[in-house]
Amino acid sequence: MEELPVECSCCNNCKKYKKRILVTGGAGFIGSHTVILLVTRYPDYYIVNLDKLDYCASVKNLESIKGKSNYKFIQGDICEPDFMRYVFQEERIDTVLHFAAESQVDMSFIYSLDFTRTNIYGSHVLVNAAYEARVEKFIHVSTDEVYGGSSTEVLKEKSNYKPTNPYAASKAAAECMVRSYWESFKFPVIITRSNNVYGPHQYPRSVIPKFISLLDRDKKCCIHGSGDSIRNFLYVTDVAEAFDTILHKGEPGEIYNIGTDFNLSILGLAKYLIKKLKGITTEEGMQRYLDFGEDRPFNDYRYIMDSSKIANLGWQPRVTWEQGIENTVLWYRENFYNWTHAEESLEAFPTKTTTMPKLL
Ligand SMILES: NC(=O)c1ccc[n+]([C@@H]2O[C@H](COP(=O)([O-])OP(=O)(O)OC[C@H]3O[C@@H](n4cnc5c(N)ncnc54)[C@H](O)[C@@H]3O)[C@@H](O)[C@H]2O)c1
Repeated sequence: MEELPVECSCCNNCKKYKKRILVTGGAGFIGSHTVILLVTRYPDYYIVNLDKLDYCASVKNLESIKGKSNYKFIQGDICEPDFMRYVFQEERIDTVLHFAAESQVDMSFIYSLDFTRTNIYGSHVLVNAAYEARVEKFIHVSTDEVYGGSSTEVLKEKSNYKPTNPYAASKAAAECMVRSYWESFKFPVIITRSNNVYGPHQYPRSVIPKFISLLDRDKKCCIHGSGDSIRNFLYVTDVAEAFDTILHKGEPGEIYNIGTDFNLSILGLAKYLIKKLKGITTEEGMQRYLDFGEDRPFNDYRYIMDSSKIANLGWQPRVTWEQGIENTVLWYRENFYNWTHAEESLEAFPTKTTTMPKLL
């Protein structure tokens, strides 16, 4: 039987929850799926979702949990130390899941200082406020990109950092800052590094929703360079499950890769989607929907991760590519305009005239 939270004696309107979890960046892509999972699966946990509502966030991502008694949304910026201290005290937070970030590699070639501010400085502000508040578990969400992607090495958690773009460098630096609180103070930090994630709620500048949305408008898939870089793709609800696993079974001071063996080249992805959405099977027919443009200043080739450490905690990806991509295609047909500036995301590359637009 579901155990309900009991009323506490400290005030009239708060309830005693087993955990009080702060999720940062929970109006974004992966954060929103994780917030929904935690709020619905654990009515005895209190979830505070703190998000700045940047251009890639959407409050529509959270409609399914609106009004739930164990959920609270706060609009705010992790880069503000006094405000963050206040949130930890006021909400009596004991656990943190830190997703908030500037997350788009292509934007980092133009707006790199924003990446340093949010990803490095913001993570420092947050971990410091969490440390002062004596939080019991701090899960810092990082990426496979910190390894760099130009080798054929199988990447284990102990492999070296070799970031090659400002986004990846800011994430690697953030990891170092957060990890220093474990090394110096034994503050219980856990770091995760995941492969590329896809699925509903993702701002459509990322490659999968971008190609789907371009093809649905009868436009060409814009490929950076030759399209031979390879990415491993994880469905977003599998990743939310990975965070549930880490939350309950992850060990302080540890790093966990969250990966999948499923991979495609970017050109292979475009061809898969052209076949699925346009019914075209010939090489000649496919060319009509392929547009090879300028490459990124540096484009990582691939990241082959060993994820046996999290597999030993009982997690593995379960959603098949066919099922995941079907859900994603259907979702974008209904929800593309959840972001005010969604059309802008379909440009081949952001440019200096691409705004860092705010949600209106
Ligand atoms: N998407 C992927 O494929 C992927 C892969 C590996 C790791 N990651 C990491 O996972 C995390 C989440 O990624 P995502 O794809 O969901 O990103 P996202 O861009 O969809 O979401 C990021 C969220 O953080 C919020 N945010 C940004 N700056 C903030 C600030 N200063 N204060 C408060 N909130 C702020 C944004 O409003 C947004 O809602 C990031 O840390 C990213 O580096 C993502």
